[in-house]
Amino acid sequence: TIYQATTSAPVNIACIKYWGKRDTTLILPTNSSLSVTLSQNDLSSTTSSSTSPSFPTTLLWLNNLPPEQIDLPSLSSSTSPSAVADTRLTRCLLQLKKLRKELVEDKDPSAPKMSEWNLHIASYNNFPTAAGLASSASGFAALTASVAALYGLNTFSSEQEQGQGNDPLVSASQLSLIARLGSGSACRSLFGGFVSWSAGSLPSGTDSLATQIAPASHWPTLHALICIVNAQKKATSSTSGMQRTVQTSALLQHRITDVVPRRMEGIIDAIKDRDFDAFGRITMDDSNQFHAVALDTSPPIFYMNDVSRSIILLIEELNRVSLLTSRHLVAAYTFDAGPNAVIYAEEKHIPTIVNLVLRYFPLEPGTFEDKLGVLGGKDA
Ligand code: DP6
Repeated sequence: TIYQATTSAPVNIACIKYWGKRDTTLILPTNSSLSVTLSQNDLSSTTSSSTSPSFPTTLLWLNNLPPEQIDLPSLSSSTSPSAVADTRLTRCLLQLKKLRKELVEDKDPSAPKMSEWNLHIASYNNFPTAAGLASSASGFAALTASVAALYGLNTFSSEQEQGQGNDPLVSASQLSLIARLGSGSACRSLFGGFVSWSAGSLPSGTDSLATQIAPASHWPTLHALICIVNAQKKATSSTSGMQRTVQTSALLQHRITDVVPRRMEGIIDAIKDRDFDAFGRITMDDSNQFHAVALDTSPPIFYMNDVSRSIILLIEELNRVSLLTSRHLVAAYTFDAGPNAVIYAEEKHIPTIVNLVLRYFPLEPGTFEDKLGVLGGKDA
């Protein structure tokens, strides 16, 4: 017998940025963060996992590359954990196996002993991995959700999320603790809509989890426009860049203690009220402060380029004019660890913004226009 499950998870784009770890193994952040999950059909990862007593090894296929063999210590054998590689992936899979054993196999002796079997995992992104978009977030979220489904731990359906079905054995927030071990930002991609990741304070990390602030249906007119400025892989990875910031930036302390807690409260209120002016201002301010702490790192890290900075000036000018005429903001930019812009705006303003961006940034056809996508809202 072969058991199988397939799950997709979309990319999320942070409005309040996660940047810095207080524990690099458990991936515990130095500050809370908040993001919007894009719609399922746009940028997402899909993972199929299967298990069978007949699989001789655990294998991982990533985007159609040849499979990679993964050595996992078995839960029951005497293999010492140090005998096999301890990686982000093996930590996620071991946690899932432990939950399978404790919550299913130990309770029901007739349940298949999947926790002892090898896995075959295949994961695909429907967007280029090199595009500098957060592929690790959707990738680890899809992997966690897929193995959890295979193990019978989560049986989410939209009805269940609305409280109509049976509760899953493990909630999405509990699963976010496992996705977090793969990549910090992945914990937020287990939910649709508006998602916060609480930094938590426990050394064990059990309070460092994601929760949904509101489903996408709460604010369906909010759109995200992805502008691929440069599809190359970033020069400084988030993982190494953020630890250099933790070690060298004095500004980061101010951000952690004084700025982010206030912004988290402000943006949660803005989302609840569907107040684009507050949402947009906080989002732009936080993107700018994240790039300021990158610059305050020694040696400094530059993620934005001249095109990124011109997009900032364009959106700020658009907002200045709009504030004079209608007293409202029209758009908010945000940049992650790379030069690509994400522009949040109400749906009615998207055509104007697309025209403006394309007028001022007439990049080669196929490198920009093709990837300029309007991403709509999605339900939880
Ligand atoms: C700038 O989640 O990729 O996108 O936890 O080391 O895997 P690791 O880092 P990662 O960092 C994301 C940083 C960011 C901001 C954010 O998404 O909050």
